[in-house]
Amino acid sequence: MPPDHSFAPTQLAARAAYLLRGNDLGTMTTAAPLLYPHMWSWDAAFVAIGLAPLSVERAVVELDTLLSAQWSNGMIPHIVFANGVDGYFPGPARWATSALAAHAPRNRHTSGITQPPVHAIAVQRILDHARTRGRSTRAVAEAFLDRRWDDLVNWHRWLAEARDPNQHGRVTLYHGWESGMDNSPRWDGAYANVIPGTVPEYQREDNTIVTDASQRPSDLEYDRYLWLLEEMKSARYDDDLLPKVMSFAVEDVFVSAILAVACDVLAEIGEDYHRPKADVRDLYSWGERFRAGVIESTDERTGAARDYDVRADQWIATETVAQFAPLLCGGLPHDRERALVKLLEGPRFCAHPDLKYASIPSTSPVSRDFRPREYWRGPVWPVMTWLFSWCFARRGWAERSRILRQEGLRQASDGTFAEYYEPFTGEPLGSMQQSWTAAAVLDWLG
Ligand code: SER
Repeated sequence: MPPDHSFAPTQLAARAAYLLRGNDLGTMTTAAPLLYPHMWSWDAAFVAIGLAPLSVERAVVELDTLLSAQWSNGMIPHIVFANGVDGYFPGPARWATSALAAHAPRNRHTSGITQPPVHAIAVQRILDHARTRGRSTRAVAEAFLDRRWDDLVNWHRWLAEARDPNQHGRVTLYHGWESGMDNSPRWDGAYANVIPGTVPEYQREDNTIVTDASQRPSDLEYDRYLWLLEEMKSARYDDDLLPKVMSFAVEDVFVSAILAVACDVLAEIGEDYHRPKADVRDLYSWGERFRAGVIESTDERTGAARDYDVRADQWIATETVAQFAPLLCGGLPHDRERALVKLLEGPRFCAHPDLKYASIPSTSPVSRDFRPREYWRGPVWPVMTWLFSWCFARRGWAERSRILRQEGLRQASDGTFAEYYEPFTGEPLGSMQQSWTAAAVLDWLG
């Protein structure tokens, strides 16, 4: 059951800061103390957003650590492994990227897939905070931008080229983990066509930490996740071979919307800080391409966005948070956008009568795929609340942004900093002490 106490904002912020300190290994913050004892790519960006109001300097270190593990083709890997830390599966030995992948870094163990590109947002938040500080802090943030500008542009370029070679304006993913929404109903159809061959023996670690099986993906799902690793390894993680060998390939509309926003944000930073005009031009043109790709995926009446199953050659329509992707990046015609906002704010999502807080469940409670406790199949993820709230503020929707923030803070005031929450009871689920949940709170209260 949910804890019955509730922390006041100043206490909550102090606890969030304390949590990030506790998860800090020195130059990286683990995504969570036990379940995720390494650095995850999009977690690290959110962590930097939470660190920025505490210490711009420490936030910069977080992104530096992540970017120092960037692959030479431009990919930011989804996990940067902490040295000498066990307890997570699949670890470096299973990924074997150092041995197999030509582009993997030599001085760091990483996974071989990627994650949603929210990093430019973190860079912007760092620069925002730095501008309110003294000269030396500003210099740290600007030196970071000097040092990492090319890396950030190369990251976006890799997504635009290697992951959208035919310029559809949608990012292709070869593993559900790349979406960040591992077991979302969005991927059920695509995974149904993944027939695992011989998967080398393995032992899950996640379900020894979260012992309630109803909160995590199933063993059958894990077999498929692990099989996809074997397929990638057979291609030595080669960008040109993945489209040929992978039995899972989807165009992810949510990642594409994030990329559209991130390209715009980075382009704006580039303009403000006098980066090369050619980079700024490229960034804006990718932003435009991915926004158009998102809009092309939408339902003509409702504006709801769809993913695309490349293998089955068909659109994937699900009642999940991903259908609101166009609200993140904009670009819908006015009437369709109105319809989509109504869907978001109506009884199928935020105004479902049984919700404890008016935030966005990962899957609609009225969908037959909805499972209120199971990872991305229903629970509310505070970090999603943050992302929508931030994007809405950017789009000038101050009131909508404020309500999400308010509901997100009400939920987080239990002080567990849970990874996700049961939408009806508010029970904290998954990992407690999740870094990005604390980060969201710190940004909101900062
Ligand atoms: N989210 C995945 C996990 O649960 C991997 O990124 O382990």
